[in-house]
Amino acid sequence: MISKVPRVLTVAGSDSGGGAGIQADLKTIASLGGHGMSAITSLTAQNTVEVTRIVDLDPQFIVEQIRVCVSDIGVDALKTGMLHTSPIIEAVCGEIERLDVPKVVDPVMVAKSGAQLLQPSAVEAVKNKLLPIATVVTPNASEAAVLAGMKIESEDEQRRVAKKISEMFGVPSVVVKGGHLHGERVVDILYYGGSFYRFEVPRINTRTTHGTGCVFASAIATLLAKGLTMPEAVEKAQRFVYESIVAGYLIGHGSGPVNPMAETVKRAEIFTAISSVRQAVKMLEELPQAVGLAPESGINIAEAIPGALSRDEVVAVPGRIRPVFGSLKAYEHPWVGASSHVADAVLTMMRYNPAIRAAMNIKYSEKVLDTAKEIGLSISSYDRAEEPKDIKAVEGMTIRWGVARAYESAGKVTDIIFHRGDWGKEPMITITGKNAVEVVKKLQRIIDVMQRK
Ligand SMILES: Nc1ncnc2c1ncn2[C@@H]1O[C@H](COP(=O)(O)OP(=O)(O)OP(=O)(O)O)[C@@H](O)[C@H]1O
Ligand SMILES: [Mg+2]
Repeated sequence: MISKVPRVLTVAGSDSGGGAGIQADLKTIASLGGHGMSAITSLTAQNTVEVTRIVDLDPQFIVEQIRVCVSDIGVDALKTGMLHTSPIIEAVCGEIERLDVPKVVDPVMVAKSGAQLLQPSAVEAVKNKLLPIATVVTPNASEAAVLAGMKIESEDEQRRVAKKISEMFGVPSVVVKGGHLHGERVVDILYYGGSFYRFEVPRINTRTTHGTGCVFASAIATLLAKGLTMPEAVEKAQRFVYESIVAGYLIGHGSGPVNPMAETVKRAEIFTAISSVRQAVKMLEELPQAVGLAPESGINIAEAIPGALSRDEVVAVPGRIRPVFGSLKAYEHPWVGASSHVADAVLTMMRYNPAIRAAMNIKYSEKVLDTAKEIGLSISSYDRAEEPKDIKAVEGMTIRWGVARAYESAGKVTDIIFHRGDWGKEPMITITGKNAVEVVKKLQRIIDVMQRK
């Protein structure tokens, strides 16, 4: 049992659409290894397009949510998000003021959809009550402009405003976010301990940005709770938001939700694929009849994680599998990014059927193909000589072209794809399947029948 989990409290609004607010906060905290608690301030009826209604909770009830969590469970860091009205801000400040933990204040004013999440009359309460007790405040460009009373269009202005907010309201750290500014890169500026820190990521051109601000602030809170320094936490939080946008969900008709679980789920999927390829390799190593089926260039077995788009999301055997003293032997343990050809085949297959995520290449053999047909496996093929010159010229395109060609000429996704080679290219058979183990089992069935002949 874990007794030293970072305990992180979010004091924020509920987003019924699940993209921002406490829903995004709790996912972020969990994904980064913390225990999330929530004091809900307002309920919003919200989707990716609009906020249709806001119901504020009784300030005393908000305070009670904070109090019961802290008195029993304790807290290592907290973040505030949507605090809709002056009475809510005042009540929350009165309660969290005495908590001696890092307080990340996201001065939420307007939702992605444009809805007002802070009453104009409450801006003064943010400035006079909330900011003075914050450890770090994370305004976006327009919020920073409201707080500092000056516009922000450039990085220089981000710096000037960050320092100004810190000095005006006595906040030790200020991050002026650059998500709303323009340029090929998103720059977030942290003012901390009298110095500026600059963090940048490439700007992702997408509409899956619903919740970026909430994820950013709760990531900072969780990382501070884990003991990171302020600059470390901000840098890592920016990276975390970036990955969450990349893996965001294109759902709804407006700004789709970011996906704070992305990294965690991806790591778990990679582990599953590694285990699967390991098991498949072991099965193959224990199959003496397979030795004769190794091509000159060796065998590789690859399995992609669900939704994989690139070679580094495909697990395979580095250095491949080759005959050593009469049996097949993997050169190294399976790892991501260890294959180009078989990985390209898998990535292309997945475009036709996302569930077919594994493949293995073996030597071309008429006998294997005949037996495969006999036991009912489906087969397609392509002719490398027909590969258009312009595709041949681009490195890494041949296999993609070949698999597409084979499937399209067969009119279906098949268990086996083969080609008879070309000048300087070995002929090859590729066996496919849902996972690496299934692929080796298909080969096992073929070998069993071949032996009985
Ligand atoms: N298009 C993008 N590409 C990469 N990173 C982005 C992008 N948009 C925002 N970010 C990152 O997201 C974080 C939040 O920035 P942003 O300025 O969008 O906050 P926000 O306006 O408060 O968000 P929200 O509308 O969810 O409240 C920042 O760390 C920023 O680096
Ligand atoms: Mg925001």
